[in-house]
Amino acid sequence: MRVCVIGTGYVGLVTGVCLAQIGHDVICIDNNEEKVKLMKSGQSPIYEPGLPELMKSCMESGRLDFSSDLSAGVEHGEVLFIAVGTPPLPTGESDTRYVEAVARGIGANLTKGYKVIVNKSTVPIGSGDWVRMIVLDGAGERQKEKGLAGTPIEAEFDVVSNPEFLREGSAVYDTFNPDRIVLGSNSKKALEVMQELYQPLVVRKYSDHPSLPPVPIVLTDLSSAEMIKYAANSFLATKISFINEIANICDRVGADVKQVAEGIGLDSRIGNKFLQAGIGWGGSCFPKDVSALIHTADDYNYEAQLLKAAVEVNNRQRTIAIDKLQQVLKILKGKTVGLLGLTFKPDTDDLRDAPALNIIQELNRLGAKVKAYDPIISQSGMRHGLTGVIVETDPELLADGCDALVLITDWTQFHTLDYAKMAKKMHSAFMIDGRNFLDRKQLEAAGFQYVGIGH
Ligand SMILES: NC(=O)c1ccc[n+]([C@@H]2O[C@H](COP(=O)([O-])OP(=O)(O)OC[C@H]3O[C@@H](n4cnc5c(N)ncnc54)[C@H](O)[C@@H]3O)[C@@H](O)[C@H]2O)c1
Repeated sequence: MRVCVIGTGYVGLVTGVCLAQIGHDVICIDNNEEKVKLMKSGQSPIYEPGLPELMKSCMESGRLDFSSDLSAGVEHGEVLFIAVGTPPLPTGESDTRYVEAVARGIGANLTKGYKVIVNKSTVPIGSGDWVRMIVLDGAGERQKEKGLAGTPIEAEFDVVSNPEFLREGSAVYDTFNPDRIVLGSNSKKALEVMQELYQPLVVRKYSDHPSLPPVPIVLTDLSSAEMIKYAANSFLATKISFINEIANICDRVGADVKQVAEGIGLDSRIGNKFLQAGIGWGGSCFPKDVSALIHTADDYNYEAQLLKAAVEVNNRQRTIAIDKLQQVLKILKGKTVGLLGLTFKPDTDDLRDAPALNIIQELNRLGAKVKAYDPIISQSGMRHGLTGVIVETDPELLADGCDALVLITDWTQFHTLDYAKMAKKMHSAFMIDGRNFLDRKQLEAAGFQYVGIGH
């Protein structure tokens, strides 16, 4: 099938590459010329395990191309994915201006034939109909320019909501091994096209677990599909805030949240995923999606109290590492704190709304010097959004002269650092383990005083 994916970020690029891998003829469009140039040269603009290799083989097979020319993309695609960003506005609402620009551009470039326009961006509930309206507006404006005002366009299209559930860091794996595929539309024809598109994934042809039953498809209406995405992320964020609340109580009563999480996680109604206590959730999705749902509820005169509490717990949790540093170091002014990890989770280069950013800001405010080492950020030279922190190129340089270390991101490589060597380079060897990730005994044997979160 001929596919066009518009927006080549974490979602768009992975979607485009994986659809090419399963046999479709894909063109990925981005309005960032630099990015397009980079991708055309075979390089991925984002860090995502497995993506560059797959991208290279799909380009070589001739099934994947990149361009900044939206009209060429619209002409090429039978299915047009909108996968641009929907960042949060200061009010908590989603900023849908990029989706709007793309929808208008699609409308202006529709010529003839039938197209399925797919919202893969996470968009506020009701956006499916809104996108339809904007596409028609775009088409109408183009007709006007051509002196054909009022003449209907020859092209036909339907809108589908197909929310994305991939996780940064395992995005390729998640695309080939989805838990479910959600398709929302009022058009039977569009839903049939989408099912055909995803058929190789549904039958697990590219899965790591080909013998599992087919991937469930949830066929629903536009608004329910949009709501499924918000509800899923809000549930997961709330689950983390829940275990963090339990961890804070554990800290006070002397219980161990890791054992508590194990004990409750074995209950099949609860499950053991997303029960790791720590310094809270962040990234480009949870914070903005929970805020957007709260905002939508507000628009309909409903106060989403549980979601608001999940956000409040998370905001407090982000600076819990500071409280712990104050407990061990007392005054932070004039002290040097080293952060192990910067990204909001391991195996990504994404710093959007990472807890590290709040911690750096707060430590700076309190007069501490902040250094950091992150396996990807330190190497790639990517420093966007980072101020008030010295980024070191290796963990031992990070430890040198520090009064305490704080583990921010649970990168696997942090299990095997030479902690004994690092402890010797520090003024005082305190480790605040913000993810309860390291082994207390190992750290203590290396000379550290270890402090966990509720552990
Ligand atoms: N990142 C995730 O893990 C994730 C997971 C699920 C859903 N989502 C949702 O998917 C959407 C995309 O997220 P992302 O993280 O990939 O965003 P991103 O910011 O990484 O990428 C967006 C891309 O769109 C491009 N773009 C913007 N305007 C454009 C235009 N007019 N024409 C062409 N390209 C344009 C940008 O240059 C950028 O490359 C968001 O709505 C997000 O909420 C993200």
